[in-house]
Amino acid sequence: MAKKILVTSALPYANGSIHLGHLVEYIQSDIWVRAQRMMGHECRHMCADDTHGTPIMLSARKAGITPEEMIAAVHTEHSQDFKDFLVEFDNYYTTNSPENRQFAETIYLRLKAGGYIDIRSIRQFFCEHDGIFLPDRLIRGTCPKCGAEDQYGDACEVCSATYQPTDLKVAHCSLCGNSPVLRDSEHHFVKLGAFTDRLREWISVEDRVNPQIRRKLEDWFADGLQDWDISRDAPYFGFQIPGTTDKYFYVWLDAPVGYMASTQNWAQRNGQTFEEWWQSEDTDIIHFIGKDITYFHCLFWPAMLMGSDFRAPRRVNVHGFLTVDGKKMSKSRGTFIKARTWLKHLGPEYLRYYYAAKLSDGVDDLDLNFQDFVSRVNAELINTLVNLGSRTVNFLNRKLDGQLCPPDEASVKLLEDLRAAAPEVLGLYEERKFSAALRRIMKLADDANLHITGTAPWTMVKTDPEGARAVCSGGVNLFYRLCVLLAPVLPDLARKVGELTGHPINSFEDLSVLMTEGKVGDFGSVMDRVAPEKLEAIREEAAAEFAGAGEGAAGEAKGPEVDARVDPEPLEAEIEIDAFAKVDLRVGVILSAAAVEGADKLLQLTVSLGNLGTRNVFAGIRKSHDPEKLVGRKVILVANLKPRKMRFGMSEGMVCAAGPGGQEVYLLSPESDAKAGDRVH
Ligand code: MSP
Ligand code: ZN
Repeated sequence: MAKKILVTSALPYANGSIHLGHLVEYIQSDIWVRAQRMMGHECRHMCADDTHGTPIMLSARKAGITPEEMIAAVHTEHSQDFKDFLVEFDNYYTTNSPENRQFAETIYLRLKAGGYIDIRSIRQFFCEHDGIFLPDRLIRGTCPKCGAEDQYGDACEVCSATYQPTDLKVAHCSLCGNSPVLRDSEHHFVKLGAFTDRLREWISVEDRVNPQIRRKLEDWFADGLQDWDISRDAPYFGFQIPGTTDKYFYVWLDAPVGYMASTQNWAQRNGQTFEEWWQSEDTDIIHFIGKDITYFHCLFWPAMLMGSDFRAPRRVNVHGFLTVDGKKMSKSRGTFIKARTWLKHLGPEYLRYYYAAKLSDGVDDLDLNFQDFVSRVNAELINTLVNLGSRTVNFLNRKLDGQLCPPDEASVKLLEDLRAAAPEVLGLYEERKFSAALRRIMKLADDANLHITGTAPWTMVKTDPEGARAVCSGGVNLFYRLCVLLAPVLPDLARKVGELTGHPINSFEDLSVLMTEGKVGDFGSVMDRVAPEKLEAIREEAAAEFAGAGEGAAGEAKGPEVDARVDPEPLEAEIEIDAFAKVDLRVGVILSAAAVEGADKLLQLTVSLGNLGTRNVFAGIRKSHDPEKLVGRKVILVANLKPRKMRFGMSEGMVCAAGPGGQEVYLLSPESDAKAGDRVH
């Protein structure tokens, strides 16, 4: 029977780029959702950016833009990254939305009415140097549970314990490093302990979480559930708590509520209702999360829902962390790799395949080993799977007019094996045992290849062309069915194979497709081998992105290089200072950059001038600059230039650049501490 399933992936923070670690989660959930859909279930996938909190407020402040401007730019970037990794959400929303405010307020007010909120004054660290309270991530110190040094104020990354910042042993302000003082302030708490019994019962349901996570939760129950501080003092970027003037919801109060807001926003735009997806017993709500946010999703979140008459999730799927070559991702080693950096060198499906080949239903960490990646992807994906298709399709096209016929007997048997494997493979997808699913599928691909190699149609064709046609037709059908089984992992390959054969792959029912006549299309370059140099290039680029922080500190001191133009542009006539003063030059931050259709030299830029607003600018820098790399960059803008109407829209300023043109255009940038809107004198 078709099920209704509402899947969520954790909401990435809106102050950084999507990286390969994040993708462990989004690729996992996307594969699962695609498999559910191919099984015929109605499965919807919701996500959003997690936009509130102090770190986001501080990042925006540092960039000289408003938090709203920053989260808008990041939303565009994240959406594109997911799309290009073939991660498809039904809705990719934002927690800074009216729906989210409404749900957060409703939940809070219901908790309050139910007697679950306690308001009391607490002593908190305050940095006198920065004029700000230091909750959560703004304070660092030694974990009170395990003694690990330099941990955040809300949770320990080593032992996963959560605690109050004042529990930290030895604390310092993470902004300036100074020792903080203690100040009193009124805070709002959720009485988590009041939910102990209900949470225990909820957890005890078979299949709610995996056994390792259940054990962890039992430890936490044994420790006793503490009240949870859900308020933060101004200045804070978030939703104000109803009935207060200077208190805000802690980001983790409204973050998971973002799942509801995204669902509501999607439902409303698609002729559905929030209730039939969130509140109906016919729908399963399933969260995918990383192990670091277990406490929030398995204790705080269900308690909030229980206390406010909303349905708690059916299941929480927890995964482990990504390591690269056996170690935590590292900026200096070039293993902190952004999604975009990967995509510049390699397609998304290589990574999807590799992650799937290593993912299970457990919470163990997953290692991306570069050497293993290259050999495994090339051996399995290219030499086994793609090779089966390319050699049979190409041979048919070259020697036998591309014409298919009914497959030979041995192929028919193998095709039946493939169809018969479906229940097992589908079961493995369902249980998130992707690595086992892929092993099973690849075994079938091996068998198919052995048959083709054994019968050698390229020799057979000389004496028995129709026999060779039958074997190759078998090969094409086998390849097709393998691609059906792999479609959740490799959606783009499945799409191409659908086009090649004229049988689009949409569902596991397509495993019964049997092609016995007609022509097969051109195989083209469906997927290429991975050259090991590509990974080196990724690593180098990743390292370079984070270099520069300590630039100048290391390496040899060198004198300035003077690299003069042979043919310099002659100087303009001399001017008075007041002529220059009429030119209003400002520091701007590029919020977005995109190619302009029909203009091969132009990029369209949105430049923020901080409190002076944003400007739309068309700049002739397309030949010299990659739009993706420009986002976030500070530039100098001629801000009082009369707006000019161009074919593509209004240009409201000019970015300053040097160089003769074409590929040689060099943008001017201020030193990094200059703020958007600063005047250049
Ligand atoms: N904003 C919170 C989640 C709020 S959900 C209501 C958050 N954001 S995050 O950007 O830090 O992480 C998003 C998801 O990616 C989390 O599930 C997290 O566990 C996962 N990962 C982030 N880094 C990861 C690795 N290095 N490896 C595997 N997953 C990782 O947490
Ligand atoms: Zn400070």
